[in-house]
Amino acid sequence: LALPVSDPDLEQRLKSRLTLVEKALAGHVQSRAPFVTEAAGHLLEAGGKRFRPLLVLLAAECGDRADSDDVLTAACVVELTHLASLYHDDVMDEALVRRSADSANARWDNHIAILTGDFLFARSSELTAELGPEAVHIQAQTFARLVEGQIMETQAPLSGEDPVSHHLDVIAGKTGILIATSARYGALFGGAPKEVEEALTAYGDIVGAAFQISDDILDIASDGDVSGKTPGTDLREGVPTLPVLMARRAARPADARLIELLDSDLAASDEDLAEALALLRAHPAMDEARAYVLEEARRAKACLAPVPAGPVRDALEAFADVVATRTT
Ligand code: FPP
Ligand code: MG
Ligand code: MG
Repeated sequence: LALPVSDPDLEQRLKSRLTLVEKALAGHVQSRAPFVTEAAGHLLEAGGKRFRPLLVLLAAECGDRADSDDVLTAACVVELTHLASLYHDDVMDEALVRRSADSANARWDNHIAILTGDFLFARSSELTAELGPEAVHIQAQTFARLVEGQIMETQAPLSGEDPVSHHLDVIAGKTGILIATSARYGALFGGAPKEVEEALTAYGDIVGAAFQISDDILDIASDGDVSGKTPGTDLREGVPTLPVLMARRAARPADARLIELLDSDLAASDEDLAEALALLRAHPAMDEARAYVLEEARRAKACLAPVPAGPVRDALEAFADVVATRTT
């Protein structure tokens, strides 16, 4: 599990439920057309932490129906939605590597990647329908927020709008909402009380944004062997991230060269990109962003008050800590 669980019974249950989810996912990417099966299975088989399904399963443990089939279905829904969005995201970001494998756009082309994302999203919609109208409603809202966040990322902040708060709004959409929905589905289909469902949704929102910021810190700090992605991808594509916005905001006299590089087309020069990465790695904005994530993890854990104390709440707390301190 991509999560330390101190209670062995809970850990065993989560592991065996996640194995069932994994088997079901392998079935859901099957198509009558062998090539579609290959393309849709490509990123699923390449790896992934299965963070979202794990959160569904864990949140479900807050209710009295944690072992229901609907919980497994919901876990598949969020992973398929996530997977679909990765196919599209790699087209937008012109990313060549994902989960240490060729991205679908690199392996085939943009058309195949986009349509495969659509296929996976269709599969997740079909499963959502099995969960009933409330899930369809939540799923439609989640999808709209995902797309809004992803589109807003391509738009500059409005004049007078703080770039950091614009950015936090973007990541609440492109990443926060699906993680919030994962926690919500778990609570809803696991039979948790409404109050717990709301608490877990708020928790998921914060954990989700923190997850994205950790990811963006890693894009600068990590080496590609560990992350399974190409470091500096956001920088190269000019996608703003929290550490970069914080460095810009710091505007120290010593940062003149960094700002000049950030304002240039880093996709045009690997040398400039490497220099920008090195300057950012040494910049105090990296620690400022890390401190922000730790504070968000603390805020997320504070949402868990309505969850009864015990192994499940401990694991939810550990989940927030893992997100804040992730290295992959
Ligand atoms: C990754 O961000 C991208 C997302 C978390 C969301 C992408 C959403 C869409 C493309 C819209 C939804 C589309 C469908 C079909 C559901 P990133 O580029 O910052 O992260 P990375 O480093 O993992 O690429
Ligand atoms: Mg990307
Ligand atoms: Mg992106």
